[in-house]
Amino acid sequence: MNLVQALLFILPAYIANATPVIFGGGMPVDFRRKFKDGERILGDGKTWRGLLAGLCFGSLTGLVEAQLYSSAMLQGVPGMNFLPLGFALSLGTMLGDLTGSFIKRRMRIKRGHPSLILDQLSFLLFALLFSVPFAPSGFFALDSLVFLVVLTYLLHVLTNIFANRLGLKKVPW
Ligand code: CTP
Ligand code: MG
Repeated sequence: MNLVQALLFILPAYIANATPVIFGGGMPVDFRRKFKDGERILGDGKTWRGLLAGLCFGSLTGLVEAQLYSSAMLQGVPGMNFLPLGFALSLGTMLGDLTGSFIKRRMRIKRGHPSLILDQLSFLLFALLFSVPFAPSGFFALDSLVFLVVLTYLLHVLTNIFANRLGLKKVPW
């Protein structure tokens, strides 16, 4: 698996992670309820609309990749079944993101405040775990994983700065 293939593989997760910033809002996933520690369960940054947008656009990315693959544009990606993969990556991304926020609230980190590991990598970890049944054999080699972790970290930091400049996010993280 080369770097381009690793990027195509993870793309639905990136899209699922990015679209809630644009389409999110409205009722929070935790319905504004608090956990027994007195803090919010997840916080206002996790909304149903964001969750659905991430699932839809991430899965749609898988669908487009599946079309491109069958039209031979993505040839050389061995054994990749993009349609279920896109859905699994999107579901993992959204659940990983919720889990990250859940842990942040338990650590009493306020909504929107940074947590350098959880913000960038919780979604990736869950996405990768969910993708295991759909990944081509040999994908989870150490070099692919290291590449994705480093790339995700850098891209996440850069896109957040960019989204902040564009006025999509109040804070640059
Ligand atoms: N978002 C959403 N629904 C989701 C995930 C994200 O509506 N399930 C939107 C929210 O507007 C959120 C923004 O995308 O503020 C950025 O997402 P993120 O950085 O993950 O949320 P934070 O606001 O930083 O909240 P937290 O501290 O819980 O991570
Ligand atoms: Mg954040």
